[in-house]
Amino acid sequence: LTRERYSVRRLPFSVVSEDDLAALERIVPGRVITDPEELEAPNVDWLRTVRGSSKVLLRPRTSQEVAHILRYCHERNLAVSPQGGNTGMVGGSTPVFDEIIVSTALMNQIVSFHNVSGVLVCQAGCVLEELSRYVEERGFVVPLDLGAKGSCHIGGNVATNAGGLRFLRYGSLRGTVLGLEVVLANGTILNCLTSLRKDNTGYDLKQLFIGSEGTLGVITAVSILCPPKPSAVNVAFLGCPGFAEVLQTFCTCRGMLGEILSAFEFMDAECMKLVGLHLHLACPVQESPFYVLIETSGSGAGHDAEKLSGFLEQVLGSGLVTDGTLATDQRRIKMLWALRERITEALSRDGYVYKYDLSLPLDRLYDLVSDLRARLGLHAKHVVGYGHLGDGNLHLNVTAEAFSPSLLGTLEPYVYEWTARQRGSVSAEHGLGFKKKDVLGYSKPPEALQLMQQLKALLDPKGILNPYKTLPTRT
Ligand code: FAD
Ligand code: MLT
Ligand code: ZN
Repeated sequence: LTRERYSVRRLPFSVVSEDDLAALERIVPGRVITDPEELEAPNVDWLRTVRGSSKVLLRPRTSQEVAHILRYCHERNLAVSPQGGNTGMVGGSTPVFDEIIVSTALMNQIVSFHNVSGVLVCQAGCVLEELSRYVEERGFVVPLDLGAKGSCHIGGNVATNAGGLRFLRYGSLRGTVLGLEVVLANGTILNCLTSLRKDNTGYDLKQLFIGSEGTLGVITAVSILCPPKPSAVNVAFLGCPGFAEVLQTFCTCRGMLGEILSAFEFMDAECMKLVGLHLHLACPVQESPFYVLIETSGSGAGHDAEKLSGFLEQVLGSGLVTDGTLATDQRRIKMLWALRERITEALSRDGYVYKYDLSLPLDRLYDLVSDLRARLGLHAKHVVGYGHLGDGNLHLNVTAEAFSPSLLGTLEPYVYEWTARQRGSVSAEHGLGFKKKDVLGYSKPPEALQLMQQLKALLDPKGILNPYKTLPTRT
């Protein structure tokens, strides 16, 4: 599947031998997986678009074990593919050939939580939803939330610099991650696991590993700042007659809701059709060309409700919004969020998914979707647009019955050239992984690419960490 479709050649790494297996067994006793059945799932990505052929998966429990593994692999020139929850969207977490999979699944311990500062320190394999539950019981929230929360690991989130549904309020992990512990390619443990808000002691090394997608080191522990849990949360789900009205609603919303606005997401009518068709979720408002989900989070229920009703009166009265519904109780809030969060799942049930994750100027954000819909005509099953509108992040997805090289040829490089003309980003939040590594030139100058290659060579001179990923193929 992978090799044929993407024409990639194996680099001259060693092949795992019986001696290697015995040595690895000494490092992680009983946690060297070689059963082909158990290796099936970790060799395939969430979207089922790439497949590796790894014959070994390791399950370390501690940073020391990760360090031993990498020291050994470095010495033996064995390639490694770090894996968290395997929910990545760009084929970064699965091996391409026979790389050894290093899974963080057993590194799931919380190290500490400080109930005044809200600083959480935990191992990289903690599942996001479990961390959320843990800190929420203590009156805090994790500053990150995404549809994959039930499976993704915090280490994977940091490694991809995941954006998600709370980005508008709490910003990037680049701000909320306070410290990291990372094991370098040669097995050195880099302990930058501080819990300080301010620390200008030279270069901020942790930033190198945030968003490095397993190519510069294996993240083993994370220190993250959790904000207090808002006591009043409201969600409004609204229908808009056009994209211009979606943008106007966003402007009005920012102006009138101000500091209590915590999410502004959008989806088009095609998305709604797909969540209805494949997941049987009912549309809670009158059918419309566009829908927006607005969340407010604050500390005064009365104050927030008053602000929200003023806003709703304004947008409904002016025709920016044609219908809407409001939720304040947990169950209904969850139900409204599911319509937006589960689009990814509905798409994957629709067929083969061509997935694009773009940063674009807001006023042009939906033009690409309309443009492609016209361009593809009946060649695509569905062309949909949704995403984190408040962050200028469009998810443009195209589905078809099966993968087709000619459809791909119609989509690429068209989508990337279109994005580059707007000075947008060809990966807003999913990263580059295996599938997008050759397109970063559309968003970064050659000098930046060269510096990235130099950093890679410095930190991983043998190139054993997640080869064939993130950095463009050298020609
Ligand atoms: P994996 O998929 O296992 O790995 C991802 C990458 O990180 C790989 O390159 C891997 O090698 C590397 N990696 C993993 N763990 C480590 C580690 N400990 N050290 C070093 N490298 C490591 N993304 C968003 O940004 N926003 C969203 O809103 C969003 N929603 C999603 C919704 C769904 C339903 C799904 C399936 C995915 C979504 N994603 C989203 C994709 C997102 O990238 C991942 O869900 C998440 O951040 C990856 O975490 P993971 O543990 O699954 O990592
Ligand atoms: C989302 O926002 O739903 C995720 O990034 C996943 C996707 O793009 O499908
Ligand atoms: Zn997203």
